[in-house]
This record gives sequence, C-alpha cells and structure tokens, in this order.
Amino acid sequence: MVPRGDTDLDPAAYGEHIADVYDEWYSTADREPEVAVAVDFLRTRVGAGPALELGVGTGRLALPLAARGTTVVGIDASPRMVARLRDKPGGSEVDVVLGDFAEVTAPGGPFGLVYVVFNTFFALADQDAQVRCFANVAAGLQPGGLFVMEAFVPDVTRYDRGQRVQADRLDGETTHLNVSLHDPVFQRVRSRHLTLGPGGVGTYPVDVRYAWPSELDLMGRLAGLELTERWAGWNGEPFTATSTSHVSVWRRPQ
Ligand SMILES: C[S@@+](CC[C@H](N)C(=O)[O-])C[C@H]1O[C@@H](n2cnc3c(N)ncnc32)[C@H](O)[C@@H]1O
Repeated sequence: MVPRGDTDLDPAAYGEHIADVYDEWYSTADREPEVAVAVDFLRTRVGAGPALELGVGTGRLALPLAARGTTVVGIDASPRMVARLRDKPGGSEVDVVLGDFAEVTAPGGPFGLVYVVFNTFFALADQDAQVRCFANVAAGLQPGGLFVMEAFVPDVTRYDRGQRVQADRLDGETTHLNVSLHDPVFQRVRSRHLTLGPGGVGTYPVDVRYAWPSELDLMGRLAGLELTERWAGWNGEPFTATSTSHVSVWRRPQ
C-alpha cells in the first residue's frame, strides 16, 4: 500500500470561512506599499498581456493591476471571496472563473503572465495537484510568457513534535491564535486561525501543502518552464539561504 496522507481538502473552505474578514485582516493600509510594489513587479512582466491570477480572492492585487490597464482574469474556488471582489470599484473589469486552479482553464488566454501570490499555490492539497497546476499554467502561457509565484520558504523548526500554538496578535478585545499540526512526510500543515472575543469563538481553516523552491523548480522543469528570476521579495531583495519567502519567475520558452 502507498500512503497518500490526508487529502480531504475542500478548495473553497478557506475562502468561504474568511471572506467576511479577509480585507479587514490582509488588505490593510499598512500593506498598501507592498501591494503597489507587487503590482509594479507584475506590470513589468506582463508583456502585452493578458494576465491570469490563480486564487484571485477579493482582488487585492488583481484590481490595482487591472486599474493600471492590464486585462486580468482570475480563478477562485470561493464564491464568497469572488462576491467581495465584484462589490468593489472596478470589480466587473476582472473576469473570474469559479473552480479549482489546479484543474480549470481560464478563458481569454493564452496569457502573457500567470501569477499566484500570498502562498496561495500551497493551498493545493498534494504534490500531484501542484504538478498538474504547473502543467496547466505552462499550457496556458504564450511562448515567452511568465509564471510568477510569491510563497514562503518552509521552516520546519517552527514545529515541536508536529505541532505549534502561536499567539498571532491582540486586536482590541479579540485574541488571534494559530493552532497547527505538521505532517513532514506529506509536507502538510493543517492550521486553524482562532479568534476569541466578545462575539465568541471564530475558526478559520488554513491548510497548506508546502514545497521548497527546489521542488517548485522541478515542477517547473516537468512542465517545460525555466526559472529566470528568484528574489526574496517584490522589491528585488537578493534571495539567500536565510530568506523566509521568495518571488520566483518561470518562463515558457519561445
Ligand atoms: C490567501 S487568499 C489570496 C487571495 C488573493 N490572491 C490575495 O492576494 O489577496 C487565497 C485564495 O485562493 C483561493 N483558493 C484556495 N485554494 C484554491 C483552489 N484550489 N482553487 C481556486 N482557488 C483557491 C481562496 O478561495 C482564496 O480566495
């Protein structure tokens, strides 16, 4: 028997739970400079476009990118996240396909740029889904088109005997905790972001299957893509052995 690990991951679960608070938590004023730099980075790599965002969510990056004149298409599994995007100014400018980005193809291609940010690639539950995603991305790119990914570099020292409980922040009367279980064989971390406050207890699932940059590069090679850039952040910071995140660019050869 070949162990498969726990793959009961619903692609819509994260977004359906978090949609009401996502922008309040992650689309905050202090993050605006980083969004602006990320949009600049993407703008300079989109060529003649169009662009496709995997896991477009509430449009945190897609909307400012579209506002700068790029045609942006998105895929997302969560109807509630997409409803948030639709309600925003410019929301009707971004076409969104509802579905799993490892499986569905978006209309409007081939794309000059496909991108996936904020660790969203790791939402795919296992290596097979991640390999399929790379293959679909490669098939949807124009010759010379680019695939950009922003993701964390795994750090398994975070876990003590396969678990971690972390106080994330105190927000007024509300305490934010993160409770995680780590499976190093399948490279999975199942987490629950818990909020404890006057309104009661909130629980938000965040389940990921992480991969090191070297494994992502191998997925790229399997899909016929070549790594052309790797930075530690959107500002072009050098990527080193101590970097905790990366912005990587793979290219479909001409
Ligand atoms: C962390 S949010 C990022 C949203 C947006 N890209 C941003 O930067 O704010 C992850 C998004 O990916 C979506 N998602 C997660 N797994 C997915 C999958 N397998 N297929 C499609 N969308 C998925 C979620 O619904 C959510 O909207």
